Amino acid sequence: MSWGLKNRLARIIKPADGRTVMLAVDHGYFLGPTSRLEDPRKTIEPILNDADTLMLTRGVLRNCVDADTATPIVLRVSGGTSIIGPSLADEGITTSMREAVRLNAVGVALSIFVGTQYERQTLLNLSKLVSKGEGIGMPVLAVTAVGKELKKRDARYLALCCRIAAELGAHIVKTYYCEDFEKVVAGCPVPVVIAGGPKLDNELDALKLAADAIKRGAVGVDMGRNIWQSDYPMAMIKAVRAVVHQNATPEEAYDLFASLKSEPVG
Ligand code: R5P
Repeated sequence: MSWGLKNRLARIIKPADGRTVMLAVDHGYFLGPTSRLEDPRKTIEPILNDADTLMLTRGVLRNCVDADTATPIVLRVSGGTSIIGPSLADEGITTSMREAVRLNAVGVALSIFVGTQYERQTLLNLSKLVSKGEGIGMPVLAVTAVGKELKKRDARYLALCCRIAAELGAHIVKTYYCEDFEKVVAGCPVPVVIAGGPKLDNELDALKLAADAIKRGAVGVDMGRNIWQSDYPMAMIKAVRAVVHQNATPEEAYDLFASLKSEPVG
């Protein structure tokens, strides 16, 4: 692994504890102006400094994030589909590696859709991206997406997806939490982070999800809706940090959340 690639990886996964809180705000690339992300700048600004990295598209980065931010950027570089189109899985590479470098990204993210008719296409896209990333020192985060046609999220399926992503060279894999999650991590030779998924009924449930994932081997979260769809996103991201970086129990983190939530946003 080149020095540049290692250095960029260290800006995603913090060397002090080997953990990360990635903030995902890329949802508009197929969902449009989804709830609480209608005005990305308004959503991102209050919580940006508490994120270890920010994951988003080049369009939102350029238009909604000031260039003097200290938060490292992971750029989503796959897409080309929409929630109303024939298949979410039919993704291509949307953003060049040159653009990622120009935007000073510390990593690029691409979704793979294993088990769909587009698995070959998306897996070969991952391989190409890794080859380019290795050449230039840019880590690649593979997202094991499920799409609307693939509801399966058990350990057997997710372990398959994560392992394939790692075999093709991904440097980090993002997947979903599931029962027997430790089996997913055990079969994947690169660090695994979890997505939060749709907003859960309450913040304690999301903190439990993060804590369970960490306990079973995840190095962190790449979480979106369970942070910024909370009525108290600033309190929530700090609570998630407590779980990820301080090994707080969900209850301890929820107490922190409750004590901080007196300042709602929006
Ligand atoms: C998934 O592919 C999206 O790009 C999101 O980045 C991801 O789902 C994480 O966000 P959330 O925690 O809202 O699921």
